[in-house]
Amino acid sequence: MTILAASALTGGIAIITLDNPPVNALSAPLRASLLRELQQALADSAVEAVVILCAGRTFIAGADITEFGKAPQPPSFAELFALIEQAPKPVIAAIHGTALGGGFELALACHYRVAAETAKVGLPEVHLGLLPGAGGTQRVPRLVGAEAALDIITSGRQIRAKEALSLGLIDTLVPDGNLRESAIAFARDVVARGSARPRARDHEVWTVVDRKRPVIFSDFAAKNARRFKGFAAPDAIIAAVQAAVDLPFEEGLARETALFEHLVATPQSAAQRHVFFAEREAARVPDVSADTEILDIRSVGVIGAGTMGGGITMNFLNAGIPVTLVEMTQEAIDRGVAVIRRNYEATVRKGRMSAEQVEQRMGLISPGLDLATLADADLVIEAVYESLDVKREIFGKLDRIAKPGAILASNTSFLDLNRIAEATSRPEWVIGLHFFSPANVMRLLEVVRGAATAKPVVATAMRLAKRIGKVPVLSGVCDGFIANRLLAPRGAQAEAMMLEGTPIDAIDRALVEYGFAMGHFQMMDLVGLDVIGRDSTERTVMGELVACGRLGQKRGAGYYDYDDTRRPSESGITSELIRDVAATRGIRPDATSGDEALLARLLYPVVNEGAKILEEGIALRASDVDIAAILGYNWPVYRGGPLFWANQIGLGRIVAEMRELEGRYGEAFCPTDLLVRLADKGRGFGETA
Ligand code: 3HC
Repeated sequence: MTILAASALTGGIAIITLDNPPVNALSAPLRASLLRELQQALADSAVEAVVILCAGRTFIAGADITEFGKAPQPPSFAELFALIEQAPKPVIAAIHGTALGGGFELALACHYRVAAETAKVGLPEVHLGLLPGAGGTQRVPRLVGAEAALDIITSGRQIRAKEALSLGLIDTLVPDGNLRESAIAFARDVVARGSARPRARDHEVWTVVDRKRPVIFSDFAAKNARRFKGFAAPDAIIAAVQAAVDLPFEEGLARETALFEHLVATPQSAAQRHVFFAEREAARVPDVSADTEILDIRSVGVIGAGTMGGGITMNFLNAGIPVTLVEMTQEAIDRGVAVIRRNYEATVRKGRMSAEQVEQRMGLISPGLDLATLADADLVIEAVYESLDVKREIFGKLDRIAKPGAILASNTSFLDLNRIAEATSRPEWVIGLHFFSPANVMRLLEVVRGAATAKPVVATAMRLAKRIGKVPVLSGVCDGFIANRLLAPRGAQAEAMMLEGTPIDAIDRALVEYGFAMGHFQMMDLVGLDVIGRDSTERTVMGELVACGRLGQKRGAGYYDYDDTRRPSESGITSELIRDVAATRGIRPDATSGDEALLARLLYPVVNEGAKILEEGIALRASDVDIAAILGYNWPVYRGGPLFWANQIGLGRIVAEMRELEGRYGEAFCPTDLLVRLADKGRGFGETA
């Protein structure tokens, strides 16, 4: 039986230990159990103070996210926290691991907070489309001031114990491994000094620019407008913190509750919660059991020091794993290593890394020109240009060089992994690791499982991804894997609508309004039209633009004209070219207007492609498709990914609209069998009957 909360008494100090693995989420049973233990401890005349601590790897990681959207179960956070705050005896939170969300809010309702040196605290609710709904927006400003509170709560960042101490969020730091004893000693000291019970609620909220209080909030919103664009939670957080300044504590709490209840019922928060669980689910491979052997990866080889190879290398250096980096020429390897160094130095300039750390990381690279130096690597990743012949040749050589038991990986973004694996005598050791550019930044890692890839190789890749800070999504072998396949139909429709006479800025605006960072044509211009360079036998607008030197933003002209600040404006030349190409291809003017119609045209084919990817067994589950779109191509997180978004619209409606579009625009809108089947059954993607 799981122990939820249990008490022990040592010399007048009651210790309540919460034990709700894996992260001590404050579920209804845990709240009930804690309430009971607290009531008993407070009623017990032998108890002089109470310490709340957690078993396992962390203090409370927050409310139980699975409870949102269901009927609330008693006791409420408010009831529990009121009991703590109003307790006639001092209550002390003893924090290790991460005290997050409702977990940190519980600690804030306590009279004192003792934290282990490596502990972190934070209010990450914003990442779930929420605000701290258990007093966080009212107590934090009272402890750290309105400005710092706005930063902490809208960023959701985890704050190291040392910083939390200097901000006044915790009272003392104690050595790791000694938390229980230190917290008991702290409690005894409080009792000896007269059992004071300071409460965050009794503090005055202070602001740096005291006289201009309302301005703080509007200034903060304006300064962060770009970061907050499209998200509802940041505005609600600002309103709640403002309530902490303007209103008495209880009224502020009521305002916070109202805002929380509004947010938790929004599709945005549902989408962001979906993403939270989807990211974690993605690492699970159903036919690879939890006790499959995980291989120890202590050294990595990377072949190719270009943009991809360099970025891939940085991931391992950042995780403290040595990399042997191999190139064909001295010049190429020198350039590759220099670019890595420059990237790190840029991070130093932004104050996010020390010069010493740069040297540490650079010291982990062994650059060279000889594949034979990869003989000892536990994992080799090939990141050379996309040619099946070249890759097969390299894998043939690697087969002779790499030690037995080494994982041989290709970073190919569309080639047939099985053909690459066949070039070796050990295809079971071959896997695809498809990183996204910039590879040291983008969090998605497509792990491509070949026909022969062995289970321990799959299991190791999934685990390794987490170690280097990536979210792995398993993909079968196909042209483009998951994320690239999802992007392609959107581009095809954008270009089709352009030729039908829909203004490109209307197309881009619809995508930006939906939540993408930029529209299709802005993205093409940013990447560079010469770089994209599609092979086409037909006359294309892109081909014409390249031919007249309009290569994109870097030349100040592409689909759009750009001024010195890189602001795009409509180009007469492009409009002329579009009309001209459309005329030669016999495309009649038939502009699409209205955001809904534009989005149906642009994004329903993406939903359909996602369904095909599932149907073909390329992705394991619908939520993996969503994660690939969000982390690979910046699909707005608050839409939950293409398939979650489709569920919210309703698959029945999507199929009906697609049939209409199919009649006008052809087979790109022919709904795939899976989509039709789910719609007929009234189900959504990933929903069980
Ligand atoms: N509720 C329910 N389940 C949770 C959870 C939570 N708050 N936090 C983590 N879990 C689950 C995960 O889904 C995962 O389940 P799985 O093993 O079945 O996939 C398991 O716990 C372990 O989580 P991680 O894989 O994320 O473990 P890590 O060690 O990598 O990270 C963590 C630990 C930093 C605590 C991370 O889990 C995390 O960030 N959790 C969420 C924290 C959060 O958002 N808290 C705020 C909740 S909202 C709230 O409190 C509202 C309040 O204001 C009223």
